[in-house]
Amino acid sequence: MNKNINNAKPFLKWAGGKNQLLKELNKRLPLNLKDAGTIGRYVEPFVGGGAMFFNLKNHYNIKESILLDINKELVMAYQVMKNDHKILIDLLDDIEDNHLKKDENARKDNYYRIRDIYNSKLKDFDFNNYNEQWIERTSYFIFLNKTCFNGLFRQNKNGQFNVPFGLYKNPNICDKININLVNQALNNTEIICSDFIHSDKYIMEGTFVYLDPPYRPISKTSNFTMYSKGGFTDLDQLELSNFYKNIDQKGAYLMLSNSDPKNNDLTDTFFDNLYGEYNIDIVCARRNINRNSSGRGTINELIIMNY
Ligand SMILES: C[S@@+](CC[C@H](N)C(=O)[O-])C[C@H]1O[C@@H](n2cnc3c(N)ncnc32)[C@H](O)[C@@H]1O
Repeated sequence: MNKNINNAKPFLKWAGGKNQLLKELNKRLPLNLKDAGTIGRYVEPFVGGGAMFFNLKNHYNIKESILLDINKELVMAYQVMKNDHKILIDLLDDIEDNHLKKDENARKDNYYRIRDIYNSKLKDFDFNNYNEQWIERTSYFIFLNKTCFNGLFRQNKNGQFNVPFGLYKNPNICDKININLVNQALNNTEIICSDFIHSDKYIMEGTFVYLDPPYRPISKTSNFTMYSKGGFTDLDQLELSNFYKNIDQKGAYLMLSNSDPKNNDLTDTFFDNLYGEYNIDIVCARRNINRNSSGRGTINELIIMNY
C-alpha cells in the first residue's frame, strides 16, 4: 500500500455513508490490487459521500476514476469541488463567519433563510451546463448539509430540500484543509450524474467497481431507500443484480454492499437468490442515520464479491 497519497475524507454527511464499514471493505479488496498498490481504473456507480473512493485514494495510486450518482445536487457539489474549490472556500468562509457569530435563534432563522433561497432557485436551475451559479448553490448545499438535523439529504416530491434545522455548537461549515484535499483527490476523476445502468461503458477487464446502492429497507418503517424522489425498489435491486452479472462477464473486480435482510427475518433469502453464485460475506456494521432510534446500533451487512 502507498501510504498518505491523499488524506481527503467525504465532504458531506451522507445517509448510508460507508465510513463505519471501511475496515471490512479494505480487508476484502482484490489481492492483486492490494499487492500492486495501484488501481488502473476505479468505477463507483453509487458514489454518495464517497467514503470508499476517498479511502482508496488515501492508500492506492488510482490512475483514473469514474464516479456516478443519480442525485444532481450531489454531482454538482463534486463538480464544483473539482473545478472551483477556491471560490467555494471563499463563499463558505463568509457563510460560516456570518452564521457562527449569531446566537442559537438567529442561527435557526439563518438556516431557514438559506434553505428558502436554495429551494426557490431549484425551479430554474440549470443542472446540465456548468456555470458559476453551481458554486453558490454548492455553498448552500454544504451549509445545509452541515447544519441540518442529522445531516440527512431529503427532498419532498417536488425536489425541495425539507430537512429541519439541527442543533450544533460549532459546525465545521468551511473545512478548508479537506476541501483542498478533496480537490486534489478528484484529479483524474470524472464525475457523472447518471443512473447506475449507464456506468457499464466505463467498466472493462481489470476495472475495480464498488457498488453501494440504496439499502433494501430493514424494516417496514425504515425510509433508508428514499435518497432521491423515486426510491430504490426490489425491482431495482433485481436490475442491479443483472447488471452485476453483465459486468462480471467483462472481467472486472466487483464489490457490492447492502443490508442483510436476515437482520429482521431469518427466512429472507432475497440477496442469496440474486447473488448465489458469488462470494457473500456477512459483516457487522454500525448504523447511524435512521428515523427511529431502534435503527441505530449494530446490524449485519453483506459484502458480495465476484473474486
Ligand atoms: C448508500 S448511498 C451510497 C453511500 C456511499 N457509499 C457513501 O459512502 O457515502 C446510495 C447512493 O445511490 C444513489 N442512487 C440511488 N439510486 C440510484 C441509481 N438508480 N443510479 C445511481 N445512483 C443512485 C443515491 O443518490 C445515493 O447517493
